[in-house]
Amino acid sequence: MPPLPLPPSLAATLPGRYYTDPDLFRAEQERIFERRWICAVRGADLAEPGAFRTVQIGRENVLVTRSRTGALRAFLNVCRHRGARLCTETEGRVRRSLRCPYHAWTYDLDGKLIAAPHLVRMPDVDRSAFGLVAVALREWLGYAWVCLADEPPSFEASVRSAAVERLGDAAAIDHYGTERLALGKRISYDVRANWKLIVENFMECYHCATIHPELTHVLPEFASGYAAQYYVGHGAAFGDDVAGFTVDGGEGFGSLPEVTPEQDRRYYAVTVKPTVFVNLVPDHVILHRMFPLAEDRTVVECDWLYAPEVVASGADLSRSVELFHRVNAQDFAACERTQPAMVSRAYRDGGVLVPTEHHIGLFHAWVREQLDAA
Ligand code: FES
Ligand code: FE
Repeated sequence: MPPLPLPPSLAATLPGRYYTDPDLFRAEQERIFERRWICAVRGADLAEPGAFRTVQIGRENVLVTRSRTGALRAFLNVCRHRGARLCTETEGRVRRSLRCPYHAWTYDLDGKLIAAPHLVRMPDVDRSAFGLVAVALREWLGYAWVCLADEPPSFEASVRSAAVERLGDAAAIDHYGTERLALGKRISYDVRANWKLIVENFMECYHCATIHPELTHVLPEFASGYAAQYYVGHGAAFGDDVAGFTVDGGEGFGSLPEVTPEQDRRYYAVTVKPTVFVNLVPDHVILHRMFPLAEDRTVVECDWLYAPEVVASGADLSRSVELFHRVNAQDFAACERTQPAMVSRAYRDGGVLVPTEHHIGLFHAWVREQLDAA
């Protein structure tokens, strides 16, 4: 238990129960994940009309699909008849309609009810009143972001602003052309830790010298615990002996066409609350989407995105992917090592943040503010 009052060098974390209490997680589902814009699905994963993916957001299962006009659509994955889950697979493709596996109510790709057994014998039923429940959807960085709120917050103010605030320039992220990149690798991590431990870990670099030898070789300033995420406009420079953002510092894939000279040979990290981390390096973008499933379990889907011609060439991406895959594995192991201690009496009142971690307190304040909101 930290002694109170704390000396100025130290700031308090959240108490342990914020990471273990199922009621608190339930409140976060309702007040954070079901109210904010959540990065759900990569648009290119739904290349054809009828392709779909399902994702868990808060307490809802959300179905994202591509309509016949080519637009992405999101719906609650719940049949309007008696509530069966419409798509039971996490991904797939239907030909032209979504048919409930229970009694065969059938919806078109825009969610409209188009058929049901014996519907003709119920002339009083207005089909348009029994379509799938639509979920707000926006596209950014090549991903479908969805929001379950009845009145979604401004996308600009709650999502895009994170990149502007971090990079100090509204156009900076656009230079990576993320929406035009191709998927080089995707790894899904099933992390036995509360989602906030993962966010906090991503926000600080106090641990970098201890657990990230490969990353601190490529980005030497990380060895000092410097938190690149919180210095507006600053990207961590590659070491002088480093050719590219790869596991051994060897050559990468040059730089993306619109990356500026200032952005070249630098690493930038952006946290988009609550569940997205974007890492920008000259030749690729690494995007993490978190899906918090329980107070002690979070699935993190990580995409490595490269110039389409790099992926099409069949180039060996392994040394490039391996750097951040190792960082992920090192970070998630640290989070999993921390999670069990959250119920300990030693952590009843929480732990402490050192000066290079103090900005994590802003995240904690944000979480508390969301939970306190009506
Ligand atoms: Fe879907 Fe009956 S629950 S058709
Ligand atoms: Fe880390």
